[in-house]
Amino acid sequence: MTRRRQIYEGKAKILYEGPEPGTLIQYFKDDATAFNAQKKGTISGKGVLNNRISEHVFTLLGNIGVPTHFIRRLNMREQLIRQCEIVPIEVVIRNVAAGSIAKRLGLEEGLQLPRTIIEYYYKDDALGDPIVSEEHIACFGWASQDEMHDIADMAIRINDFLTGLFAGVGIRLVDFKLEFGRIYDNDYARIILADEISPDGCRLWDMTTGEKLDKDRFRQDLGGEVEAYQEIARRLGLLPEGENTVLDMAEHRKNRGK
Ligand code: TMP
Ligand code: ASP
Repeated sequence: MTRRRQIYEGKAKILYEGPEPGTLIQYFKDDATAFNAQKKGTISGKGVLNNRISEHVFTLLGNIGVPTHFIRRLNMREQLIRQCEIVPIEVVIRNVAAGSIAKRLGLEEGLQLPRTIIEYYYKDDALGDPIVSEEHIACFGWASQDEMHDIADMAIRINDFLTGLFAGVGIRLVDFKLEFGRIYDNDYARIILADEISPDGCRLWDMTTGEKLDKDRFRQDLGGEVEAYQEIARRLGLLPEGENTVLDMAEHRKNRGK
């Protein structure tokens, strides 16, 4: 493999310099973390599935006019993306109570929220990504009011679209996390959707059985993580029924490299 300059390594992905200025290569690892990296593990084959799932979702979002960083998938674990300046805010959209909101507000997991909630978390691992309000975001200049307006609009639009997409394949979109970035055209900055959309950053429950098909399987030691991610890919039509071709290929390569 040719040596490329690594730009950044996160918990689940690595960014490398891209082939042209203004582009990056986003590499999906099998590493999984939870609870601000207090829990660490590997989900063999996860990176391959997330790369494919995220490609699919970003492509569909692009088709309905949501600007994204996605350019194209390059191979099993990599995609070409537009380089952007990440807004240091994690945007969480919730339709159903689960996870931290259930804990913080004493809500029963599974409670359908009377309306969709958008929350913001300041991206800072050392602080454990604290929840913040738009007041904090404006006060500390993490994003402008106009940018926050665009971000909230896009988040709602993405939620509406994804809720329908997943409902169509028997999955309840409980909550999910988005990240946005800035692209500069001369002096003008515009907001685009960045990062990934995959079972790592979404809660996805089977509509009939309530089974968790996302990273909560890892967080809560439920087992069957990769099978759950595969099930999401399969329902989205990305894996042939009854076959795990994508994963088998990944496993094959990995084992060969050992
Ligand atoms: P939470 O209930 O733990 O706040 O998580 C809400 C959603 O955001 C859930 O789908 C998982 C996702 N998420 C991330 O992708 N990264 C994170 O660091 C956190 C805390 C949550
Ligand atoms: N808190 C993140 C999650 O549970 C992962 C992490 O911060 O290590 O999705």
